[in-house]
Amino acid sequence: MRVPYEVPADGLPERVTIYEVSPRDGLQNESAVVPVEVKAELIARLAEAGLTTIEATSFVHPRWVPQLADAGELLTRMPRVPGVRYPVLVPNERGLDRALEHGVTEIAIFGSATETFAQRNLNRSVAGSIEMFAPVVSRALQEGIKVRAYVSMCFGDPWEGPTPPAQVVDVGARLLDLGCYELSLGDTIGVGTPGHVAALIAAFDARGIGAGRLAVHFHDTYGQALANTLAALTAGVTVVDASAGGIGGCPYAQSATGNLATEDLVWMLHGLGIETGVDLGSLAATSVWVAERLGRPSPSRVVQALAKE
Ligand code: HMG
Ligand code: MG
Repeated sequence: MRVPYEVPADGLPERVTIYEVSPRDGLQNESAVVPVEVKAELIARLAEAGLTTIEATSFVHPRWVPQLADAGELLTRMPRVPGVRYPVLVPNERGLDRALEHGVTEIAIFGSATETFAQRNLNRSVAGSIEMFAPVVSRALQEGIKVRAYVSMCFGDPWEGPTPPAQVVDVGARLLDLGCYELSLGDTIGVGTPGHVAALIAAFDARGIGAGRLAVHFHDTYGQALANTLAALTAGVTVVDASAGGIGGCPYAQSATGNLATEDLVWMLHGLGIETGVDLGSLAATSVWVAERLGRPSPSRVVQALAKE
Protein backbone atom coordinates (compact mmCIF):
# COMPACT_ATOMS: atom_id res chain seq x y z
CA MET A 1 0.00 0.00 0.00
CA ARG A 2 1.28 3.47 -0.86
CA VAL A 3 2.02 5.67 2.15
CA PRO A 4 2.69 9.43 2.22
CA TYR A 5 6.32 10.62 1.99
CA GLU A 6 7.24 11.95 5.41
CA VAL A 7 8.49 15.54 5.40
CA PRO A 8 7.95 17.36 8.71
CA ALA A 9 7.18 21.09 8.86
CA ASP A 10 7.98 23.56 11.63
CA GLY A 11 5.49 24.78 14.21
CA LEU A 12 3.22 21.74 14.29
CA PRO A 13 2.44 19.29 17.13
CA GLU A 14 4.27 15.94 17.37
CA ARG A 15 1.06 14.07 17.98
CA VAL A 16 -2.61 14.68 17.16
CA THR A 17 -5.60 13.02 18.83
CA ILE A 18 -8.27 12.07 16.34
CA TYR A 19 -11.80 12.24 17.74
CA GLU A 20 -13.63 9.80 15.46
CA VAL A 21 -17.29 10.68 14.82
CA SER A 22 -18.39 8.33 12.01
CA PRO A 23 -20.73 6.13 14.11
CA ARG A 24 -22.56 9.28 15.32
CA ASP A 25 -22.13 12.22 12.90
CA GLY A 26 -21.60 9.84 9.98
CA LEU A 27 -24.59 7.59 10.47
CA GLN A 28 -27.07 10.17 11.83
CA ASN A 29 -27.48 11.61 8.34
CA GLU A 30 -27.89 8.41 6.36
CA SER A 31 -31.31 8.03 4.77
CA ALA A 32 -31.19 4.29 5.48
CA VAL A 33 -31.17 3.12 9.07
CA VAL A 34 -28.01 1.06 9.48
CA PRO A 35 -28.54 -2.22 11.41
CA VAL A 36 -27.26 -2.15 14.97
CA GLU A 37 -24.86 -5.05 14.37
CA VAL A 38 -23.20 -3.12 11.51
CA LYS A 39 -22.77 -0.13 13.85
CA ALA A 40 -21.23 -2.36 16.52
CA GLU A 41 -18.85 -3.89 13.99
CA LEU A 42 -17.89 -0.44 12.67
CA ILE A 43 -16.98 0.66 16.20
CA ALA A 44 -14.93 -2.50 16.76
CA ARG A 45 -13.08 -2.01 13.46
CA LEU A 46 -12.32 1.65 14.22
CA ALA A 47 -10.73 0.65 17.53
CA GLU A 48 -8.77 -2.10 15.76
CA ALA A 49 -7.45 0.50 13.31
CA GLY A 50 -6.00 2.39 16.29
CA LEU A 51 -8.58 5.10 16.96
CA THR A 52 -8.77 5.78 20.68
CA THR A 53 -11.74 8.15 20.87
CA ILE A 54 -14.87 6.97 19.07
CA GLU A 55 -18.13 8.90 19.43
CA ALA A 56 -20.53 5.98 19.44
CA THR A 57 -24.06 7.40 19.18
CA SER A 58 -26.54 10.00 20.53
CA PHE A 59 -29.13 9.88 23.28
CA VAL A 60 -31.28 12.50 21.56
CA HIS A 61 -35.01 12.22 20.94
CA PRO A 62 -35.48 9.15 18.70
CA ARG A 63 -38.08 11.03 16.63
CA TRP A 64 -35.55 13.78 15.91
CA VAL A 65 -32.80 11.37 14.80
CA PRO A 66 -34.39 7.99 14.02
CA GLN A 67 -31.08 6.73 12.60
CA LEU A 68 -29.68 6.62 16.15
CA ALA A 69 -32.84 5.44 17.94
CA ASP A 70 -31.00 2.20 18.76
CA ALA A 71 -28.43 3.99 20.98
CA GLY A 72 -29.22 1.88 24.07
CA GLU A 73 -29.11 -1.41 22.18
CA LEU A 74 -25.85 -0.42 20.48
CA LEU A 75 -24.19 0.32 23.82
CA THR A 76 -25.32 -3.06 25.13
CA ARG A 77 -23.91 -4.88 22.10
CA MET A 78 -20.77 -3.03 21.10
CA PRO A 79 -17.43 -4.46 22.16
CA ARG A 80 -15.26 -2.12 24.22
CA VAL A 81 -11.49 -2.10 24.01
CA PRO A 82 -9.65 -1.09 27.20
CA GLY A 83 -8.09 2.36 26.82
CA VAL A 84 -10.54 3.43 24.09
CA ARG A 85 -13.05 6.18 24.97
CA TYR A 86 -16.61 5.92 23.66
CA PRO A 87 -18.37 9.28 24.24
CA VAL A 88 -22.03 9.83 23.26
CA LEU A 89 -24.04 12.97 22.48
CA VAL A 90 -26.50 14.02 25.18
CA PRO A 91 -28.73 17.12 24.87
CA ASN A 92 -30.75 17.05 28.09
CA GLU A 93 -31.40 15.29 31.39
CA ARG A 94 -33.60 12.65 29.76
CA GLY A 95 -30.68 11.84 27.47
CA LEU A 96 -28.29 11.75 30.42
CA ASP A 97 -30.58 9.30 32.28
CA ARG A 98 -30.56 7.01 29.24
CA ALA A 99 -26.78 7.29 28.88
CA LEU A 100 -26.24 6.51 32.58
CA GLU A 101 -28.48 3.43 32.34
CA HIS A 102 -26.04 2.14 29.72
CA GLY A 103 -22.82 2.76 31.61
CA VAL A 104 -21.55 5.69 29.55
CA THR A 105 -18.43 7.36 30.96
CA GLU A 106 -18.10 10.35 28.63
CA ILE A 107 -20.69 12.58 27.01
CA ALA A 108 -20.82 15.62 24.73
CA ILE A 109 -23.34 18.45 24.81
CA PHE A 110 -23.91 20.45 21.63
CA GLY A 111 -24.75 24.16 21.54
CA SER A 112 -25.13 26.56 18.64
CA ALA A 113 -23.46 29.89 17.94
CA THR A 114 -26.57 31.06 16.08
CA GLU A 115 -30.18 31.46 17.21
CA THR A 116 -31.73 29.91 14.10
CA PHE A 117 -29.76 26.68 14.37
CA ALA A 118 -30.37 26.48 18.14
CA GLN A 119 -34.12 26.59 17.41
CA ARG A 120 -33.93 24.07 14.56
CA ASN A 121 -31.58 21.61 16.24
CA LEU A 122 -32.61 21.87 19.89
CA ASN A 123 -36.03 23.55 19.79
CA ARG A 124 -34.71 26.33 22.02
CA SER A 125 -32.91 29.69 21.93
CA VAL A 126 -29.14 29.77 22.50
CA ALA A 127 -29.74 30.85 26.12
CA GLY A 128 -32.52 28.26 26.56
CA SER A 129 -30.25 25.49 25.34
CA ILE A 130 -27.46 26.50 27.73
CA GLU A 131 -30.08 26.35 30.54
CA MET A 132 -30.96 22.85 29.34
CA PHE A 133 -27.28 21.78 29.38
CA ALA A 134 -26.41 23.19 32.83
CA PRO A 135 -28.00 20.41 34.94
CA VAL A 136 -26.73 17.78 32.46
CA VAL A 137 -23.13 18.89 32.96
CA SER A 138 -23.38 19.29 36.74
CA ARG A 139 -25.01 15.88 37.21
CA ALA A 140 -22.55 14.23 34.81
CA LEU A 141 -19.57 15.70 36.67
CA GLN A 142 -21.00 14.47 39.99
CA GLU A 143 -21.18 10.98 38.45
CA GLY A 144 -17.51 11.23 37.39
CA ILE A 145 -18.41 11.59 33.70
CA LYS A 146 -16.27 13.81 31.48
CA VAL A 147 -18.18 16.31 29.35
CA ARG A 148 -17.11 17.75 26.03
CA ALA A 149 -18.97 20.64 24.37
CA TYR A 150 -19.57 21.36 20.73
CA VAL A 151 -20.48 24.74 19.35
CA SER A 152 -22.05 24.56 15.89
CA MET A 153 -22.19 27.10 13.03
CA CYS A 154 -18.88 28.67 14.10
CA PHE A 155 -18.15 30.20 10.70
CA GLY A 156 -21.50 30.70 9.05
CA ASP A 157 -25.05 29.46 9.04
CA PRO A 158 -27.49 28.91 6.14
CA TRP A 159 -30.03 31.35 7.58
CA GLU A 160 -27.94 34.07 9.25
CA GLY A 161 -24.82 34.25 7.01
CA PRO A 162 -21.33 34.64 8.47
CA THR A 163 -21.08 34.14 12.24
CA PRO A 164 -19.15 36.91 14.03
CA PRO A 165 -16.20 35.35 15.96
CA ALA A 166 -17.19 37.28 19.12
CA GLN A 167 -20.59 35.55 19.06
CA VAL A 168 -18.92 32.13 18.83
CA VAL A 169 -16.53 32.98 21.67
CA ASP A 170 -19.44 34.15 23.86
CA VAL A 171 -21.36 30.90 23.44
CA GLY A 172 -18.20 28.74 23.61
CA ALA A 173 -17.04 30.39 26.83
CA ARG A 174 -20.45 29.81 28.44
CA LEU A 175 -20.35 26.12 27.48
CA LEU A 176 -16.83 25.71 28.89
CA ASP A 177 -17.85 27.58 32.04
CA LEU A 178 -20.47 24.88 32.70
CA GLY A 179 -17.50 22.55 33.39
CA CYS A 180 -16.73 21.02 29.99
CA TYR A 181 -13.12 19.91 29.48
CA GLU A 182 -12.94 20.80 25.79
CA LEU A 183 -14.80 22.83 23.17
CA SER A 184 -15.07 21.49 19.64
CA LEU A 185 -15.55 24.24 17.04
CA GLY A 186 -18.10 22.97 14.51
CA ASP A 187 -18.12 24.13 10.92
CA THR A 188 -21.47 22.45 10.45
CA ILE A 189 -21.97 23.48 6.81
CA GLY A 190 -18.30 23.63 5.81
CA VAL A 191 -18.07 27.36 4.96
CA GLY A 192 -14.90 28.15 6.94
CA THR A 193 -11.59 29.00 5.26
CA PRO A 194 -8.12 28.97 6.87
CA GLY A 195 -7.85 32.69 7.69
CA HIS A 196 -11.24 32.54 9.38
CA VAL A 197 -10.10 29.53 11.42
CA ALA A 198 -6.96 31.35 12.58
CA ALA A 199 -9.01 34.46 13.45
CA LEU A 200 -11.51 32.45 15.49
CA ILE A 201 -8.82 30.61 17.47
CA ALA A 202 -7.09 33.97 18.09
CA ALA A 203 -10.42 35.43 19.31
CA PHE A 204 -10.72 32.58 21.84
CA ASP A 205 -7.11 33.14 22.92
CA ALA A 206 -7.80 36.84 23.45
CA ARG A 207 -10.59 35.81 25.85
CA GLY A 208 -8.20 33.56 27.82
CA ILE A 209 -9.25 30.29 26.15
CA GLY A 210 -6.10 28.77 24.66
CA ALA A 211 -5.86 26.30 21.78
CA GLY A 212 -5.22 23.53 24.33
CA ARG A 213 -8.93 23.61 25.28
CA LEU A 214 -10.15 23.61 21.68
CA ALA A 215 -10.81 20.91 19.11
CA VAL A 216 -11.90 21.43 15.51
CA HIS A 217 -14.80 19.77 13.71
CA PHE A 218 -14.85 20.48 9.99
CA HIS A 219 -17.41 19.35 7.46
CA ASP A 220 -15.95 19.20 3.96
CA THR A 221 -18.78 20.73 1.90
CA TYR A 222 -16.51 23.09 -0.04
CA GLY A 223 -13.30 21.03 0.15
CA GLN A 224 -11.74 23.26 2.83
CA ALA A 225 -11.63 20.83 5.75
CA LEU A 226 -8.00 19.77 5.42
CA ALA A 227 -6.70 23.30 4.80
CA ASN A 228 -8.72 24.47 7.79
CA THR A 229 -7.24 21.67 9.89
CA LEU A 230 -3.70 22.72 9.00
CA ALA A 231 -4.56 26.30 10.03
CA ALA A 232 -5.86 25.00 13.37
CA LEU A 233 -2.77 22.83 13.98
CA THR A 234 -0.54 25.82 13.21
CA ALA A 235 -2.51 27.77 15.83
CA GLY A 236 -1.83 25.06 18.45
CA VAL A 237 -4.90 22.80 18.28
CA THR A 238 -4.06 19.08 18.76
CA VAL A 239 -7.51 17.43 18.76
CA VAL A 240 -9.21 16.99 15.39
CA ASP A 241 -12.66 15.48 14.75
CA ALA A 242 -13.03 13.33 11.65
CA SER A 243 -15.27 10.65 10.19
CA ALA A 244 -13.95 7.46 8.59
CA GLY A 245 -14.60 7.57 4.85
CA GLY A 246 -15.93 11.14 5.14
CA ILE A 247 -19.50 10.02 5.81
CA GLY A 248 -21.82 12.33 7.72
CA GLY A 249 -23.75 15.57 7.97
CA CYS A 250 -26.43 17.08 10.14
CA PRO A 251 -30.11 16.34 9.45
CA TYR A 252 -31.06 19.80 10.79
CA ALA A 253 -28.67 21.77 8.52
CA GLN A 254 -29.57 20.96 4.94
CA SER A 255 -26.29 22.06 3.36
CA ALA A 256 -24.13 19.98 5.72
CA THR A 257 -22.19 17.15 4.08
CA GLY A 258 -19.76 14.65 5.51
CA ASN A 259 -17.02 15.48 7.97
CA LEU A 260 -13.37 15.67 7.09
CA ALA A 261 -12.49 12.07 6.16
CA THR A 262 -10.28 10.44 8.78
CA GLU A 263 -8.15 8.83 6.04
CA ASP A 264 -7.50 12.23 4.36
CA LEU A 265 -6.52 13.64 7.75
CA VAL A 266 -4.24 10.70 8.59
CA TRP A 267 -2.53 10.92 5.18
CA MET A 268 -1.69 14.58 5.77
CA LEU A 269 -0.62 14.07 9.40
CA HIS A 270 1.63 11.11 8.61
CA GLY A 271 3.11 13.08 5.67
CA LEU A 272 3.97 15.80 8.19
CA GLY A 273 5.54 13.19 10.50
CA ILE A 274 2.80 13.71 13.10
CA GLU A 275 1.86 10.64 15.14
CA THR A 276 -1.76 9.48 15.23
CA GLY A 277 -1.55 5.81 16.26
CA VAL A 278 -3.84 4.96 13.31
CA ASP A 279 -3.20 2.18 10.79
CA LEU A 280 -4.24 3.83 7.52
CA GLY A 281 -4.65 0.59 5.54
CA SER A 282 -6.93 -0.99 8.12
CA LEU A 283 -8.99 2.20 8.42
CA ALA A 284 -9.42 2.58 4.65
CA ALA A 285 -10.50 -1.07 4.43
CA THR A 286 -13.14 -0.32 7.08
CA SER A 287 -14.44 2.62 5.05
CA VAL A 288 -14.71 0.45 1.93
CA TRP A 289 -16.65 -2.07 4.03
CA VAL A 290 -18.99 0.71 5.35
CA ALA A 291 -19.47 2.10 1.83
CA GLU A 292 -20.64 -1.34 0.68
CA ARG A 293 -23.18 -1.39 3.50
CA LEU A 294 -24.39 2.15 2.71
CA GLY A 295 -24.59 1.36 -1.00
CA ARG A 296 -22.45 4.28 -2.19
CA PRO A 297 -18.72 4.95 -2.50
CA SER A 298 -16.79 6.81 0.19
CA PRO A 299 -16.25 10.49 -0.70
CA SER A 300 -12.71 10.31 0.79
CA ARG A 301 -10.01 10.91 -1.84
CA VAL A 302 -7.54 8.75 0.10
CA VAL A 303 -9.99 5.85 0.41
CA GLN A 304 -10.69 6.08 -3.33
CA ALA A 305 -7.00 6.28 -4.28
CA LEU A 306 -5.96 3.37 -2.05
CA ALA A 307 -8.84 1.23 -3.34
CA LYS A 308 -7.50 1.60 -6.91
CA GLU A 309 -4.02 0.29 -6.07
P1 HMG B 1 -38.18 18.90 22.54
O1 HMG B 1 -39.26 18.41 21.64
O2 HMG B 1 -38.09 20.36 22.83
O3 HMG B 1 -38.15 18.03 23.85
O4 HMG B 1 -36.80 18.42 21.88
P2 HMG B 1 -38.91 18.25 25.24
O5 HMG B 1 -37.87 18.50 26.28
O6 HMG B 1 -40.02 19.25 25.07
O7 HMG B 1 -39.55 16.81 25.49
C1 HMG B 1 -40.59 16.30 24.65
C2 HMG B 1 -40.71 14.79 24.82
O8 HMG B 1 -39.53 14.17 24.33
C3 HMG B 1 -40.84 14.32 26.27
O9 HMG B 1 -41.67 13.16 26.23
C4 HMG B 1 -39.48 13.90 26.64
O10 HMG B 1 -39.40 12.90 27.65
C5 HMG B 1 -38.96 13.34 25.34
P3 HMG B 1 -43.16 13.21 26.77
O11 HMG B 1 -43.04 13.66 28.20
O12 HMG B 1 -43.83 14.22 25.89
O13 HMG B 1 -43.62 11.81 26.57
N1 HMG B 1 -37.51 13.48 25.26
C6 HMG B 1 -36.62 12.49 25.04
N2 HMG B 1 -36.77 11.17 24.81
C7 HMG B 1 -35.64 10.44 24.64
N3 HMG B 1 -34.39 10.97 24.71
C8 HMG B 1 -34.22 12.28 24.92
C9 HMG B 1 -35.35 13.09 25.09
N4 HMG B 1 -35.51 14.42 25.32
C10 HMG B 1 -36.81 14.64 25.43
N5 HMG B 1 -32.98 12.79 24.98
C11 HMG B 1 -34.48 17.81 22.07
C12 HMG B 1 -35.55 18.80 22.45
C13 HMG B 1 -33.15 18.37 22.50
C14 HMG B 1 -34.76 16.48 22.75
C15 HMG B 1 -34.54 17.61 20.52
O14 HMG B 1 -34.45 18.86 19.95
C16 HMG B 1 -33.43 16.74 20.01
O15 HMG B 1 -33.39 15.53 20.27
N6 HMG B 1 -32.50 17.32 19.22
C17 HMG B 1 -31.35 16.59 18.71
C18 HMG B 1 -30.98 17.04 17.32
C19 HMG B 1 -29.75 16.31 16.89
O16 HMG B 1 -29.40 15.24 17.36
N7 HMG B 1 -29.02 16.91 15.91
C20 HMG B 1 -27.81 16.33 15.39
C21 HMG B 1 -26.65 16.40 16.35
S1 HMG B 1 -25.88 18.00 16.40
C22 HMG B 1 -24.73 17.96 15.11
O17 HMG B 1 -24.74 17.06 14.31
C23 HMG B 1 -23.67 19.03 15.04
C24 HMG B 1 -22.28 18.52 15.50
O18 HMG B 1 -21.84 17.44 14.68
C25 HMG B 1 -21.25 19.68 15.41
C26 HMG B 1 -21.27 20.41 14.06
O19 HMG B 1 -21.13 19.76 13.01
O20 HMG B 1 -21.43 21.62 14.12
C27 HMG B 1 -22.30 18.03 16.95
MG1 MG C 1 -20.94 17.62 12.73
